[in-house]
Amino acid sequence: MEQRVGALLAEMTLSEKVGQLNQVANPDPVRDAAALAAGAIGTCIIASGEQAGNVRDAGTRAADVNALQRVAVETSRLGVPLVVARDVIHGHRTVFPIPLGQAASFDQDLVRQCARAAAREASADGVRWTFAPMVDVAQDPRWGRVAESWGEDVWLSAHLGAAAVEGFQGGPGGGRLADADALAACAKHYVGYGLVQGGRDYAEVDVGPVTLHNRHLQPFAAAVEAGVATVMTAFHTLDGTPMTAHAGLVREHLKAGLGFAGVVVSDWDAVGELVPHGVAENTRQAAALALRAGVDIDMITGAYATHLAGLVRDGTVPLDLVDDAVARVLAVKFRLGLFDDPYTDTRRAAAVQLSAGHRALARRAAAAATVLLRNDGVLPLTVGPGGARRLHVTGPFATARAELFGTWTLDGRPEDAVTIADAARERWADDETTVTVDDGRFLDETLVAARAADVVVACVGEHPMRSGEANSVTSIDLPPGQAEALEALARVTRRLVVVVLTGRPLALERLDHLGAALVLVFHPGVEGGHGIVDVLSGDAPARGRLPVTLPRSTGQVPLRHDHLPTGRPLDPDGTVGRYRDHRDTPRHPFGSGAGYSEVVYGQVALSAPTLRPGGTVRAEAGVTNTGTRRVVETVQLYLRDPVARISRPVSELAGVQIVELAPGQAADVAFDIDAQMLTFRDAHGEVCLEPGTFTVRIAPHAGGGTTASGELLDPEGCAHLARAGAGSAAPDELLDPEVVRT
Ligand code: NOJ
Repeated sequence: MEQRVGALLAEMTLSEKVGQLNQVANPDPVRDAAALAAGAIGTCIIASGEQAGNVRDAGTRAADVNALQRVAVETSRLGVPLVVARDVIHGHRTVFPIPLGQAASFDQDLVRQCARAAAREASADGVRWTFAPMVDVAQDPRWGRVAESWGEDVWLSAHLGAAAVEGFQGGPGGGRLADADALAACAKHYVGYGLVQGGRDYAEVDVGPVTLHNRHLQPFAAAVEAGVATVMTAFHTLDGTPMTAHAGLVREHLKAGLGFAGVVVSDWDAVGELVPHGVAENTRQAAALALRAGVDIDMITGAYATHLAGLVRDGTVPLDLVDDAVARVLAVKFRLGLFDDPYTDTRRAAAVQLSAGHRALARRAAAAATVLLRNDGVLPLTVGPGGARRLHVTGPFATARAELFGTWTLDGRPEDAVTIADAARERWADDETTVTVDDGRFLDETLVAARAADVVVACVGEHPMRSGEANSVTSIDLPPGQAEALEALARVTRRLVVVVLTGRPLALERLDHLGAALVLVFHPGVEGGHGIVDVLSGDAPARGRLPVTLPRSTGQVPLRHDHLPTGRPLDPDGTVGRYRDHRDTPRHPFGSGAGYSEVVYGQVALSAPTLRPGGTVRAEAGVTNTGTRRVVETVQLYLRDPVARISRPVSELAGVQIVELAPGQAADVAFDIDAQMLTFRDAHGEVCLEPGTFTVRIAPHAGGGTTASGELLDPEGCAHLARAGAGSAAPDELLDPEVVRT
């Protein structure tokens, strides 16, 4: 392929090269015929741009894309095909739960399957590039984009992000990219976006190198390892340098250090935004900064199209850098098979979109996005003889359709969605059982209906436009009025099940003693109604677990499970806290969520007291389902390195196993620990492994489980591993925003 790229590049004029680096929005085969014929458009995005591109638009159809490709391929001198991109974030026509909801499954296979299905559907409309997955580690629930993340945990973000890359691209290493139903994936937003100050979208980020290396860069490294074809730079400034102009992190660390050979694309108009950021006087200077930093494609600013050729001619930008960028773009086009067949089969969409298989997957995923926070025994609902006969379903989400989708659902259609009310009727209503429904607009009427019912299911929560891009909040409480409505309901019925749908972690302490059960659902997608009712009825196990810590109140954020110890650790049973006005602990720990049977964890046993590099120690614990229902248990491995040259987290997730247990069944769950899992990075990004004691915990969530300690011996072997693992840019250049080696 290198040869094909090289040969084509050698034939290109400077302006044709620049064209490959120019991404436009919504091109039209007639209006843009001249630009297409001149080879002035390399790739395009189909998006409205309105509300950060986050509103449903007319979409795209294979026939439209084919018409566009025909002009590009048949009228341009070199016949280079376009790549059509779109934000296919959590499904296409079949909308899956938001990424935060998929993360609640803790299940790489499920995430991979959702991405695969999304790729099949979107590619049938002519889309071959998605701007997903977002792998930003999100630790501030005020930030609306937490909805698009895999949550607060590094291991989970890295593993689920890599699974999504594999799903979109059709397999590991991008091996099946050439298949017509694969999408090029895009790991975004490089890097540190989850740290925007105050949770305010687009705001500045201040982060030290140790945190950057050990947390925020890790999921990107995992995506690169998984063969991600493209990476998007983030909007924010990092320690004063916009990521769109950060040569140290983009050109040096990502490309040279991590060996990323794919395409780096800017975010929407981010090259132009270097001007308001105050680092460029005009778009000409902005283009020079971005290209030199390693940003290959300018998304929609047009700054490369206008200025790059001149910048090369006057020597401001070396031609080598332009050639390298163009070669990357051409390589992705070759890998996608577009030079062999640029057209999309127009019959495929009807066959794959919203297929029964995709709907069934969406239903399973929606059930997995449903987390049982509290259950006083009312769930699973007993309906029928001896149980409830009159159910009332209420609240703004009872009859909601598009609102079930969550943020970034450009191609979902409201009429496809299954409402909670419809699913409840389908599951429970018969000659003897009635299911009544209202949307809670007239609370006085709702209270009357609630009094008359045996069970009330109240479906409240955030509208999807309260989360996602540019939608931050100062309070992570329920939207105004909802807690009051629930309190009123709780006064007329004891059998109240509260279902909260959300795009972010919420502070729900006010609901602690309210009603008989509390269920949190991350916006669940097109099969949301079915998935939720499957869990409420017990048809599906309650398997969702929190991929984020739930605080007690907004004032505690950011609050995450894998924080560093302080010099004055808090005594959890003590009377002194850090806040004078508030408890310090989270309300619900990371990884938690109840099932319908109790699962008891036995003591952790290590297969050997010591670990030698090259070897493994097996940690094992028995887990027993002591209840009467089948469970799907998410068994979590946490590690701690109590003494190192830098302070290491109080605990870190290092593995997950999902086991199914019949009533009364016990299983031994084992994790193999190798030395790599005990490494960390120092301020220079060097891989460190230090001999000493480590602690192993096997647990149902970050706040529980049993522990054992082992020892890591053999300093010589450790040094060898550290050398072998090091692979980043020269330490002193890593965070230097200006370094550019040509
Ligand atoms: C801005 C968002 O930050 C990014 O995630 C998205 O892919 C682009 N817009 C394109 O719509």
